[in-house]
Amino acid sequence: MWELHPSALGLNDGPFAIVGHSCALYPRLPGRDSDRGTPQSLSAVDTCSWDAEGRPPGSLQLGAQDRGPSCTPVQRALLALTPTLEKLQEVKGRVLEALEQGLSQRSGGRSTMRMLPTFICSTPDGTESGDVLVAELCQSHVRVLWVTLTGDGNQSPQLMYHVFEMPEDIPQGSGEALFDFIAQCVKSFLEEIGNPQHRLPLGFIFPFSCRQTGLDKAELISWSKGFRCTDVEGKDVVQLLQAAISKQELCHVDVVALLNDTVGTMMTCSTREKPCEIALVVDSGTNCCFMAESHLLEMAEVTSGRMCINSEWGCLGDDGALDDMLTPYDHRVDQESSNPGERRFEKLVGSLYLGEIVRHAILMLASEQALFIGKNISILATKAVLTTQQVLEIMDNEDGMAKAQGILEALGLQPSERDCCRVQQLCRAVVSRAAAFSATGLAAVLSHMCRSRQLERLVVNVGVDGGLYHTSTRFGEILRSVVGLLAPECAANLMPSADVSGLGAAMVTAVALRMVAQRNKVERLLAPLRLSRADLQRVQALMRQEMERGLDRERNAESSLRMLPTYVCHTPDGTERGKFLALDLGGTNFRVLVVHVAEDNIDIINEIYVIPTAIMQGTGEALFNHIMECIMDFQMKQGLMGEVLPLGFTFSFPCQQLGLDKAVLLNWTKGFSASGCVGQDVVQMLREAAQRKQHMALKVVAVVNDTVGTMMACGYHDPKCEIGLIVGTGTNTCYMEERAKVGTMDGDEGRMCINMEWGAFGDNGCLDDFFTSFDRLVDEKSINAGKQKFEKLISGMYLGEIVRQILLALVEEQVLFCGKSSHKLQNKDIFQTKFLSTIETPGLALVQVQGILSNLELDASYEDSALVREVCQTVSLRAAHLCAAGMAAVVEKMRESRGLEQLTVTVGVDGTLYKMHPHFSQNLQQMLQELAPRCNVTFLQSEDGSGKGAALVAAVACRGDDPSSPQ
Ligand code: BG6
Ligand code: GLC
Repeated sequence: MWELHPSALGLNDGPFAIVGHSCALYPRLPGRDSDRGTPQSLSAVDTCSWDAEGRPPGSLQLGAQDRGPSCTPVQRALLALTPTLEKLQEVKGRVLEALEQGLSQRSGGRSTMRMLPTFICSTPDGTESGDVLVAELCQSHVRVLWVTLTGDGNQSPQLMYHVFEMPEDIPQGSGEALFDFIAQCVKSFLEEIGNPQHRLPLGFIFPFSCRQTGLDKAELISWSKGFRCTDVEGKDVVQLLQAAISKQELCHVDVVALLNDTVGTMMTCSTREKPCEIALVVDSGTNCCFMAESHLLEMAEVTSGRMCINSEWGCLGDDGALDDMLTPYDHRVDQESSNPGERRFEKLVGSLYLGEIVRHAILMLASEQALFIGKNISILATKAVLTTQQVLEIMDNEDGMAKAQGILEALGLQPSERDCCRVQQLCRAVVSRAAAFSATGLAAVLSHMCRSRQLERLVVNVGVDGGLYHTSTRFGEILRSVVGLLAPECAANLMPSADVSGLGAAMVTAVALRMVAQRNKVERLLAPLRLSRADLQRVQALMRQEMERGLDRERNAESSLRMLPTYVCHTPDGTERGKFLALDLGGTNFRVLVVHVAEDNIDIINEIYVIPTAIMQGTGEALFNHIMECIMDFQMKQGLMGEVLPLGFTFSFPCQQLGLDKAVLLNWTKGFSASGCVGQDVVQMLREAAQRKQHMALKVVAVVNDTVGTMMACGYHDPKCEIGLIVGTGTNTCYMEERAKVGTMDGDEGRMCINMEWGAFGDNGCLDDFFTSFDRLVDEKSINAGKQKFEKLISGMYLGEIVRQILLALVEEQVLFCGKSSHKLQNKDIFQTKFLSTIETPGLALVQVQGILSNLELDASYEDSALVREVCQTVSLRAAHLCAAGMAAVVEKMRESRGLEQLTVTVGVDGTLYKMHPHFSQNLQQMLQELAPRCNVTFLQSEDGSGKGAALVAAVACRGDDPSSPQ
């Protein structure tokens, strides 16, 4: 129970008073007490019905002295317009519920409070500088501002502005006319100030409910406040304005940010020392925004810090939650509005409606003969004859009565003094109720903030704007006192924001400008990584040219593509049989397998062995000894020691094959550099290692590249599979070429699989234009600088490292992690390519991105996490597109070599990046289709690895029917 005296609230002369025990807020009752100006007797209240429609008073609790005879219609009306504190507490509870539901994704957008992310995570920091334009759409006008910020803490911004009255038909006309009008205002304004021609960022203040997906992407959800322009709902209003601006030939004006008016208010009131974290607007409509804890924003995928949320609380009650608070007058106002049934809370609070509520109250009371007895009241049936401005004037303590007299007389109502007095009380009740409801909403937001920040007491600045708050002191008083009663755990410092100068809008735009400046830096940095279609077509043409040269006996040495014959001349035909050993060396894992090829299935048992980096980069002898040890271990475990099985060896490095079982290593790639191997036959090296280990039962019959193994493995299931692609640690492709086109080999009949070794594409400099500074750094720091240049743009061994280099550059540019890197991020390869796959996973909350970054000792904000994701996307998209350009050259060459109009072919594909990355395969396939429209290409993912393919090649070799086999 509350013990408060009205004087504590400064409400002695108002319609509100606080009743002894119950703290009910109730109007001064007219009629029985002639002494206006003192708190009146409550004797009439208890027996009268609380609700003008006859419902019982419910929570209204009165002392015994308050009981008395039934009340008059006017008293009833006033009571109906006066919620008790208990009732307001209840409403606050409902608001809190709606608020929390709105924040939660799980509610599936069911809440009436939309809780829209604004993408404003920071308030002005004083470093903003430059010229900005602001266009502000208001109820009846458009304001255009020019602000010059000097970066001096924004103490002395220079401002110019012009207000353009809006023709009356615009808010109900076409969307095009509205945006054309705004754009024309911008144009006239710019002409007035001498047509500056430099690039001008524009902030658009648009006070309607929008679903934002970025600072400059905002779809109008629905109109309100009497606006209902056609063809705007569901559209991006930034785009609409930008299009209208372009129509005015203002190509130098870029709409960079869209902001709700509440956000503008919050920014106006916010200073560096005294940040304002809530804004409340009570104008023609009402709304509230506040800085919400990011981890609660499921729908915005936010991580750390806070983001300003536009609550759009005007829609509260659209689900019926406020029905018990509504009077018959509210119902009538709603029915006559442009959006019946919608924005119920706004219609209780917004100044667009208060005059109308009073009008309906008078009208109904007059028809009950409780007011204007015997007078012609037909004028009151006309919408908007009584404005909210007049309601506020009538409320005035000093000359309110005179005003009432004048206003009512002007309406031809011939009011008596009693009429004037009652109308004044109705006005006060309606405005006081609006204040009490605003306070209730605000109290809910405050309590939520206090709770979500786990504070015992929240001290916070609240920016308040809007005609109602500024014009009526009573409104402010009630707002303050009711907030104090409903959220006693919070100390809200209400700060009036008189935004006459447009500073709020400017600050908002300035922050947007700072963000744009940062965005420009980001764009500048990432631009070289964004390849156009023309770029990709050039890559495709270069790949094609290098392929032709690589196949040409004379020009082979000029080409960066070796186009190595593999001695594999057929893809599997299903007749292969037998039991084979297989080795798979060169990918992420080293595997030893036993493959049993039977009539109707292939049975595989395999084991993964680790090859320590020291062995990869040690001596060849040690490497092959290690491989032999793994084989022997495997044979032992599988009970195969006594058997001499033919062995297929997947060796995923460039080899000059001299036969199916003879492959001279040309150079190491990926992380390998074991000495004494280059120029040697790897099969021979394996045999020697077997001898060293006195393992006599090794019969290597075929050595294949992993691309070939993959093509064969997939070819077993799909005879159209004539291409093998790897996008893993490294990248490479093989394909079936017409022998007649292979100038480096004799013989014209049939086809042979060519191992392109496309990872080396560009090693002769032909791709240098596409190499960015980040790629150069990655290349320089690799163990094979200047080599495998295409691979270094695409494959898993390098993408993480490219991302790391970009992140370091963004930190250097002060646009990431507040310009501070971590020690960890300085380490080569610390940012693994698997992070790209995780970070880019659709639906992954940015909080998880933040988790990855915090393991790297990086303290990432929401924007940081989003930017890291964008970097990952840019790098992986480029890789996929480059891969598509390469593949387009391959399929087109096959199509032409075969003299076909249309080629239908399957690509067998393997590799961790391809398999694990959420978008790589789709990006690759989409772009391939665009670049090679005359080829129908299907991608078949290899499930069992290329060891299976090596076994199939071995099977063919053992059958002895391969004409090319030197067996
Ligand atoms: C495997 C194949 O599945 O993929 C290997 O069996 C191949 O032969 C590898 O080298 C490529 O992918 P990654 O990601 O392991 O390099
Ligand atoms: C490297 C190798 C190549 C292999 C590819 C995929 O590019 O040089 O032979 O096919 O990686 O593993």
